[in-house]
Amino acid sequence: MFIKQLYTGCLSEAAYYIESNGEAAVIDPLRDIDAYLELANERKASIKYIFETHFHADFVSGHQDLSAKTGAAIVFGPTAAPSYPVHVATDGEILKLGKVTIKVLHTPGHTMESSTYLLRDEQGKDYAIFSGDTLFIGDVGRPDLVQKLNADVTPQILAGHLYDSLRDKIMPLADHVIVYPGHGAGSACGKKMMTETVDKLGNQKKVNYALSQPNKEAFIKAVTDGLMPPPAYFPANVAMNKKGYTSFEEVKSRGMSSLTPEVFDVITGVPQAMASRSTIPKASRRHWAGLTSISAREIVSINTLRSSLPVNLARTDSLSAIFSRRKRSSPSPTSTRSRFSVFCTSFMARMSTSAPL
Ligand SMILES: [Fe+2]
Repeated sequence: MFIKQLYTGCLSEAAYYIESNGEAAVIDPLRDIDAYLELANERKASIKYIFETHFHADFVSGHQDLSAKTGAAIVFGPTAAPSYPVHVATDGEILKLGKVTIKVLHTPGHTMESSTYLLRDEQGKDYAIFSGDTLFIGDVGRPDLVQKLNADVTPQILAGHLYDSLRDKIMPLADHVIVYPGHGAGSACGKKMMTETVDKLGNQKKVNYALSQPNKEAFIKAVTDGLMPPPAYFPANVAMNKKGYTSFEEVKSRGMSSLTPEVFDVITGVPQAMASRSTIPKASRRHWAGLTSISAREIVSINTLRSSLPVNLARTDSLSAIFSRRKRSSPSPTSTRSRFSVFCTSFMARMSTSAPL
C-alpha cells in the first residue's frame, strides 16, 4: 500500500493518491491533473477510482478531466446528484482497490453529501480516514456555505448534522487511525486549523476543540461562532463542480488563441484601434504630433479613431482599464456615442503625457 498527500500551499488543499497492487485512487484532485497522471505513470499503476469528498467550493475539481483521461470511475457519497455520470455510493459501501478496501462513511455537516473515506489495509484493519471538510487537523468544516445556495439549510441545521456525523461515524474509530484532511491552515473552509496536515485520530480527540464539546448545543455554538464571510466565488465553484465544466485543455487552448480586433471589441467594449498596433496604418503614426490637438468632440466614430491614432500595444491594458473604470463609475451617459466620448477624453489625457511611437 502506498499513500501520498499532494498538498497545494496556495489553496491549503490536500489531494491524495492511494495505491495497492497496481491499482490507484485519487481523492479530491485539483483541476490541473498532470501530477496525478505522472505519479500513476511513474509507478506503473492504473487509476481506478476518483473519490470526491463533497462538492468543493474553494476550487474546481479535476475529477471530470481525470476520469476522461483514465476511464476511472468518479465516486461521490450519498445524496450527491451531479449533472454528469458518477457512482453515488451508499453509506457503508466498500470498494476494493488492489489488496486494500475503501469504505464510504456518509458524514453530512459541511455539506449534505459530504463523505469520509475509510481506508482498510491488506489485513482489513482500519488504517486512515480521508475526511475532506468533515474533520480537519484542529477544526471541522464550516457549516454555513450551503445556505448561500439553499436558504432553508441554515448553519445551525448543518452543524447539528456535523455533530452527529462526528459522534456516530468518526469518533468511534480507533485512536491509531490516521486523519488525512481536505485542507490545512489558511483555507477559507475552516477557521482554526492547525499547521500540521496529518495527525492520528487519538490526538485530535484530545486537542480539537470541536471534538471536545460537551453536547450538541455547545458544538453548534462553537462551530458557528466567529465565521468570516466566505469568498464571493464559492457558489460559482460549487455550481461548476455540480454541473460539470469545459475540460482544462480546451480552456487552455482557447486562452492561447489570439483574438481578432472585432472579438476584442466585443469582449472589452474598447474600440478596435486599441486591439493591435498592426491595425494602425504606418502613415497614420506620423499624425502623432498633431494628435493631442484633436478634441473628443471631433472624434465622431470608431473608424475615425482607428485611422488617426498611433496606439502602442503596451498601453492596451491601461486603456482598457480606463474605459472599464469609466463605464463602472459613470452609469450615465449611456449611449455608445457618449460612452465613446468619455473614453476619448480619458484617452487624450493619458496619451498627451506619453511618448509617441
Ligand atoms: Fe469544502
